[in-house]
Amino acid sequence: MRNDYQTYNCKILKVEKETADSSTFTLSLPYKGFNFVCGQYVMVSLPGFGEAAISISSDMNDRKAFQLTVREVGVLTSAMHNLKKGGILGVRGPYGRSFPVSQAKGRNILIVVGGCGIPPIRPVILDAVKNPQKYKKVYIFYGSKNEDTLFFKREYSRWRKVCDLNIALEKPKTKKFNKGMVTALFDLKNIPSDAIAYICGPPIMYKFVIEKILKQGFDPNKIFMSLERHMDCGLGVCQHCAVGPYYVCKDGPVFSYEELKNFKTWLSPI
Ligand SMILES: Cc1cc2nc3c(=O)[nH]c(=O)nc-3n(C[C@H](O)[C@H](O)[C@H](O)COP(=O)(O)OP(=O)(O)OC[C@H]3O[C@@H](n4cnc5c(N)ncnc54)[C@H](O)[C@@H]3O)c2cc1C
Ligand code: FES
Repeated sequence: MRNDYQTYNCKILKVEKETADSSTFTLSLPYKGFNFVCGQYVMVSLPGFGEAAISISSDMNDRKAFQLTVREVGVLTSAMHNLKKGGILGVRGPYGRSFPVSQAKGRNILIVVGGCGIPPIRPVILDAVKNPQKYKKVYIFYGSKNEDTLFFKREYSRWRKVCDLNIALEKPKTKKFNKGMVTALFDLKNIPSDAIAYICGPPIMYKFVIEKILKQGFDPNKIFMSLERHMDCGLGVCQHCAVGPYYVCKDGPVFSYEELKNFKTWLSPI
């Protein structure tokens, strides 16, 4: 039987630059039968540089490789950015509660993402692109600083064939995009309130997005959010990632708004 906590060596097959400080790493599978659902993460390690949680950002249907989209913020993620094709990363997982993708089958989906929140949700976008009949309509509200901080630009024309992609930039350099925060997009488009909502972004974004979504009549049980917390043990022991009675590492990272609405600490910065 496979040990869930074993670390496997994965070979870097490709590195693609996303923004000035972020890249997407395509990796060989850690073991035969590796699969995941949108919102799950792996623990990535490099000897001498530590270990960190990174969401899987690739197509859930891909059985040959998987992808991680990583922002250079500290010790491990900087060391990863020094690696090239052929380099080796330690990977264990996947772990965590995913977005409820099977619940979304046949329904409208509203995806609201801000900044680096798009990689964990990209698997469901790629699933919709590959299986256009699977979901009713996929609305994407994506907020970022400017054109240079947008992830996955090379894919937007493919996404647009199936998804209604709406982008708002705080400081746009061109007139191609809406100006403002991601919440401004709610004033431009009506989303059917029977949609299931998937949200991922910086903590400050959640408060304002949830306000808008609740105003539109969404059911709190149908609003799902992925939380990011600094993790240590990853096993529900050390309390580093506690939010009310939950641990992000073990009970999350995806929670429904219904589960979190009485615990305000999930809104504080990590
Ligand atoms: C479920 C989940 C999914 C994630 N997915 C992604 C992803 O897809 N892509 C991605 O780039 N990142 C992701 N992250 C974030 C990533 O795990 C962290 O940014 C991680 O700290 C990076 O490791 P590092 O060694 O490079 O940075 P570190 O050296 O850990 O430093 C990162 C920053 O955090 C501060 N810091 C470090 N430890 C603590 C602590 N215990 N308490 C307070 N502050 C601390 C540092 O001062 C620094 O500013 C995810 C996190 C979680 C929990
Ligand atoms: S990381 Fe230790 S309890 Fe979650």
